[in-house]
Amino acid sequence: MGCMRCAPDAEVEAYGQRLGDACSEADMMVRQRCRRRGWACTPGVRRRPGRRPAGCRAIPPTGAARIVRARAVTQEPKDYEREARIFYPVIIQVTHHQKIGSAGMDMAPKPKGLAPEYGAQFRDESVADAYPTRPPYPTEVFDVLAGLARDEPRTVLDLGCGTGDIARPLAPRVSRVDAVDPSPAMLAGGRALPCGDHPHLHWIRASAEEFDYPAPFALVVAAESLHWMDWGVVLPRIGRALSPRGRLALVVGRGFIDVPWAANLRPLIDAYSTNRDFAPYDLVGELTGRGLFAVEGHLQTAPVPFAQPVAAYVESWHSRNGFSRERMGARAAEFDTQLTALVRPFAVADWLSFRLVADIVWGHPQRG
Ligand SMILES: C[S@@+](CC[C@H](N)C(=O)[O-])C[C@H]1O[C@@H](n2cnc3c(N)ncnc32)[C@H](O)[C@@H]1O
Repeated sequence: MGCMRCAPDAEVEAYGQRLGDACSEADMMVRQRCRRRGWACTPGVRRRPGRRPAGCRAIPPTGAARIVRARAVTQEPKDYEREARIFYPVIIQVTHHQKIGSAGMDMAPKPKGLAPEYGAQFRDESVADAYPTRPPYPTEVFDVLAGLARDEPRTVLDLGCGTGDIARPLAPRVSRVDAVDPSPAMLAGGRALPCGDHPHLHWIRASAEEFDYPAPFALVVAAESLHWMDWGVVLPRIGRALSPRGRLALVVGRGFIDVPWAANLRPLIDAYSTNRDFAPYDLVGELTGRGLFAVEGHLQTAPVPFAQPVAAYVESWHSRNGFSRERMGARAAEFDTQLTALVRPFAVADWLSFRLVADIVWGHPQRG
């Protein structure tokens, strides 16, 4: 029997429990019915059985590389989260294999804030410990990723898997997931989390540069991780490891929208981040500009409600680039005090409520 904790319906239930009243049992039943009809729904949205309700959208059928909502992948990070890559919906329809981004970047070095020494912070125990306080990816992410893996066997490579926020829920939906990460702390954390021992899931300790890419993979996923890798080395290797209709999917961010304390977060981040080289960047633009990636489609998931206690929200910052407790030392407690004071006025019974989205860009690695 598969892992019930991460089977789709169980996931909906667990989500509902976390949300309390926002997602009633009846609501979940309707949502499950919608799933069977191939509709993606937003928990917490009232809907009537039998009809496709407002708030539910048709999802791409498995095996069909359909662009649901194409968006230009220009990046303008919000003030409150320099690392959370929130994309703004625009205008263009991304056509098959269209390259977007600026040309002539082939020789440009990677942005300094993405140097390997900063990526290495995910080996810190405190970062792995804080990681489960990050919000989960919306369920729609897994529906889309499963639909992108078309060739049989539906083997997926999750590069820079961390604690398996993608790999664990995806494992029951595909034939196999190879989850690769260089951080022993992140891998150990992932093994102990729900579905960490799923029979389809194989944890592998290696960097993306060291990994030997035993082809073929129907889908390679890099979720909030490709920015840490050596693009010139890794992208061509991914390209060679893909099956004939295989694709690379970048989950370029999960983030909250319309955060009321956004404007006041920036100065706090600037004052306390240990990554003094960080500057906003556009991952997809960096890759396409170097001729390393051709975009096929881009989708932003429908917003879903998410709530967490103030303390968990504050802790989640210590799972981020520049906020490792080991590296911040005594300043970590100072940061916590200031962040708590900033967000507490927005809490209800000490809980913060958000609307959560994720962005997925998929396409084909190029030779560069
Ligand atoms: C922000 S976490 C993302 C983890 C997971 N994919 C997720 O979505 O939650 C970034 C991960 O990239 C990993 N990483 C850093 N450098 C890497 C490299 N060169 N090759 C593979 N993974 C790397 C880190 O160890 C960390 O687990």
